[in-house]
Amino acid sequence: MKIQSTISLSLSTIKSLECSSCGKSYDHTIIQTFSTCCNVPLSAAYDLPTAGTNFIRTEDYSMWRYRQVLPVLSKANIVTLGEGFTPMSQLKKLATQLGLQELWLKDDAKNPTGSFKARGLSMGVSKAKELGIRKMVIPTAGNAGGALSAYCAKAEIEATVIMPRHTADTLKEECRLYGAQLILLDGLIDACGKMARSIAAETGAFDMSTMKEPYRLEGKKTLGYEIAEQFNWSLPDIIIYPAGGGTGLIGIWKAFKELVSMGIVDGPLPKMVLVQSDQCAPMVHLFKDGKLPDNYAPQSSAAYGLAVPYPFATQMMLNVLSESKGTALTVSENEMDEGIQHIAGIEGQLLSPEGAATYIAAKKLLHAQFIQPSDRVVMVNTGSWYKYR
Ligand SMILES: Cc1ncc(COP(=O)(O)O)c(C=O)c1O
Repeated sequence: MKIQSTISLSLSTIKSLECSSCGKSYDHTIIQTFSTCCNVPLSAAYDLPTAGTNFIRTEDYSMWRYRQVLPVLSKANIVTLGEGFTPMSQLKKLATQLGLQELWLKDDAKNPTGSFKARGLSMGVSKAKELGIRKMVIPTAGNAGGALSAYCAKAEIEATVIMPRHTADTLKEECRLYGAQLILLDGLIDACGKMARSIAAETGAFDMSTMKEPYRLEGKKTLGYEIAEQFNWSLPDIIIYPAGGGTGLIGIWKAFKELVSMGIVDGPLPKMVLVQSDQCAPMVHLFKDGKLPDNYAPQSSAAYGLAVPYPFATQMMLNVLSESKGTALTVSENEMDEGIQHIAGIEGQLLSPEGAATYIAAKKLLHAQFIQPSDRVVMVNTGSWYKYR
């Protein structure tokens, strides 16, 4: 469906979608998936000079306060449960223990549905509504399925969620309660992805697989805008992010580059750190060795969101690491467990295994002198511990 252009009434300055490899332009007013010219994700492009000369933040203390640089044209199409503008809190005791001057926690567990997936799915479902999509399917490690189900319930869109059978009960039950059809599979998210593609082909449902549509990234991007605003438009030195499909990592970096283009922040930009579980660490292999090992045998992880054996946006993630002079590393399942306990006991905050992985990464990178004691470090907690039961 072609959208009636409401651009003159819209705050959005979106111009087009671009192939993330060759830059070819794709029409944003019709339904798009990924770039068919290079088989890579699409990325939304905005009229940043216009947005920058009059950078509006709405009154809204949610991710929608940056509507100028978001893709939804008409306010009426926004499907919101109050996502974004999550707390940024300083972990002073943990910092002292580590010998760091400043350690901060961006706590995205405080989002509706208990994870940062709310940002991407609120945006994805809002754009789906704007484009007239009535049926959606998603492969998920857990949190994205719950978020899609919740936003689809609100938007009256039919949702099908495909999830690995070993996932915790809470993550399954919430999808059912939100009225989605839940399909459980043996295996990891790549097996769910295959089934999503065939369901999409058979039923005409829109496939919301990570980075295979352009708009979840735009929701996740708001994490970067918030980090910048919460530090009064001066950026931290290091951001540690637990990556699976990579939307958050790529989105945060996209936000920083847009803010630089608009003249709202200047450099140096933070070094981006990607952390994965040693059970499934394709990006760490690709970053360190340029390829997956011959005996690559990805396994499930207690950090469900990190068990993505073959992410679609590998090149975009590698670009973020090289442009930001960042790094990638693994942590073990035991280390994540210890991290959860330690942070809970000392700071009173219960992090998801993915969130705890960022603390272990900070510790390791301080030891390796990649992080300096004077650095301002941000850990991103992407999900709520309470959902992993
Ligand atoms: C709690 C949590 N953290 C991190 C991730 C990884 O997400 P991304 O696609 O941004 O790499 C996921 C994805 O399922 C998740 O649920």
